[in-house]
Amino acid sequence: MPPMRFLLVNGPNLNTLGAREPDIYGTATLPEIERAVADRAAAHGAEVRAFQANGEGALIDWLQGEQAAADGLIINAGALTHYSVALRDAVAACGLPAIEVHISNVWKREEFRHASLLSPVVTGAIVGLGVQGYLLAVEALATIVRGASQ
Ligand code: DQA
Repeated sequence: MPPMRFLLVNGPNLNTLGAREPDIYGTATLPEIERAVADRAAAHGAEVRAFQANGEGALIDWLQGEQAAADGLIINAGALTHYSVALRDAVAACGLPAIEVHISNVWKREEFRHASLLSPVVTGAIVGLGVQGYLLAVEALATIVRGASQ
């Protein structure tokens, strides 16, 4: 059986993690997070394809190009979460179990962060648990995908 393949997508400004508002987002950098996700996935026999972009179009193009060969999606769409109908449509159409991750607890923050256009089209969401949220998303996806293939 080929290894499971998970897609890890990070949206705008998440390339600056580590330096960006560390009181809110912590000090881990995106490469560190991507490595930790890959390590955790490997423990489940899964490989990870990771991508970050600041633009909606680049994220959608990448997802459309990768989705056919993937088993699951972990996505932190950053601010696009709150207003991108186009990204929501792409996630809804990708046909993958998907976990939405937010490092910060968006519910404790400004009201505009309380709306997620993605939440209605993903399998589940992990919010406010810091970088750990990405690792919990790997655990969830591994269980969901394995369950689906049994
Ligand atoms: C975020 C929360 C969003 O509101 C914000 O725009 C981000 C990061 C998070 O991970 O907590 O860029 O998605």
